[in-house]
Amino acid sequence: AAQPALPAPFAQLGLTYDDVLLQPGETDVIPSEVDTTSRLTREISLRVPLVSAAMDTVTEARMAIAMARQGGLGILHRNLSIEDQAYQVDLVKRTQTGRISNPVTIGPDATLEELDERCGRYRVSGLPVVDPEMHLLGIVTNRDLRFTPVAEWATTLVRDVMTHQPLITGSEDISSEEATSLLRQHKRERLPLVDAQGRLTGLITVKDFVKSEQYPHASKDASGRLLVGAAIGYFGDAWERATTLVDAGVDVLVPDVANGHARLMLDMIRRLKSDPATRHVQVLAGNVATREGAQALVDAGADGVKVGVGPGSICTTRVVAGVGVPQVTAIYEASLACRPAGVPIVGDGGLQHSGDIAKALVAGADTVMIGSLFGGCEESPGELVFVGGKQFKVYRGMGSLGAMASRGKKSYSKDRYFQADVVSDDELVPEGIEGRVPFRGPLGAVVHQLTGGLHQSMFYVGARTIPELKERGRFVRITTAGLKESHPHDIAGIVEAPNYSSR
Ligand code: XMP
Repeated sequence: AAQPALPAPFAQLGLTYDDVLLQPGETDVIPSEVDTTSRLTREISLRVPLVSAAMDTVTEARMAIAMARQGGLGILHRNLSIEDQAYQVDLVKRTQTGRISNPVTIGPDATLEELDERCGRYRVSGLPVVDPEMHLLGIVTNRDLRFTPVAEWATTLVRDVMTHQPLITGSEDISSEEATSLLRQHKRERLPLVDAQGRLTGLITVKDFVKSEQYPHASKDASGRLLVGAAIGYFGDAWERATTLVDAGVDVLVPDVANGHARLMLDMIRRLKSDPATRHVQVLAGNVATREGAQALVDAGADGVKVGVGPGSICTTRVVAGVGVPQVTAIYEASLACRPAGVPIVGDGGLQHSGDIAKALVAGADTVMIGSLFGGCEESPGELVFVGGKQFKVYRGMGSLGAMASRGKKSYSKDRYFQADVVSDDELVPEGIEGRVPFRGPLGAVVHQLTGGLHQSMFYVGARTIPELKERGRFVRITTAGLKESHPHDIAGIVEAPNYSSR
């Protein structure tokens, strides 16, 4: 039977980072003086527009802590149980750079053995001693342990060794300046905060002030705790995961699937943004790669939209399924829906060099998410591997066989690729691969090079701020010959630079 002609399926040219360069413009900008603050979601801004990927070889608590200290943000992966992921959120939220609002405490009748165990578990060197109503009775530190022989720890009580009231304390609303001067004046390391009834409401430590000075750009919440995000799914136990993470103090929930333009995802966003248990938390949803996909997430109420289908270094979606949109075009298309709505975009995946950050921002992103460049850092999960005398770390796609296969354990990763119903590991269709990336040392050094590159981009374009960069940035499209010219050429024996390695 006759059928109507199909619409032409080859409408648009798709461009990615290597297809474009930013044109230099008139400038009197000094690279070290630019401001890279940008929006992650409707309500959260970051001093450094970098986010670490929700992958099990990139972001657990240690990476999330390091990212927030550098002024970016880590998204904890979801390839683990709800309890384990909530514990990771708790670890980040307890790593202080300000005042501690719910300090770990101990009762006066606990033994020194219990004190030692609690200090070890929470990696702290001293605890406020409180009664069941939280009245502050004293303070006990590791030092107090040292004067009691270990053999007597099981029988000696905290009340026998603690420093009793009157203690130097501060009121709940004490300013940071007042707290510092009190601690200095009395040569103390800890300042318990109490209310009018003498109940413990918080704690300030000298160590936290040192950290604040060491990490001046750290991403923090209103109480001075580090910001953290966590990935969730869109069905099954996703709601339980979301509410448990919110209870643990997560700041950004990231419903994260390979194609976020899906009904279940939109239902999830609507529920998260309307339920009293979760609606105060920012929702960064993805991934999409078209204007319509981004519009659907915006309409459902997302506070941020994550863009990227297939650009990742370990992704095989584009070859396995033949689906995706080159990243510069994907970001630009999504921005046509997001910018009018005031919803920021995270450009997720595909960044190979620092110059790609500014390209993503000019295309329409507000921050970028990075996997492979951070997977090689000291703070990412996994051990160092040595190959041919060089150091590497394992890095794998969340749609790789290794991440999706359960091997007898529960797998939490395969529903990202809509394969939760596949029972046998043999029947999984992977959309990612496993491999290794060069070891890059501490995250701080990597972020320094990435942001340093961004500062240089802003100097060339003549932009002091990210909004200015987005306004002034203009691309030139290049050819394969142009790309060849961009990289070092006609030279042998290239020496590795901290921000460039020959591919
Ligand atoms: P980069 O290029 O920074 O990309 O390594 C990280 C991003 O890649 C996505 N991702 C995947 N995409 N199959 C995919 O198609 C996978 O197995 C996979 N694992 C991660 C993800 O968006 C991540 O942030």
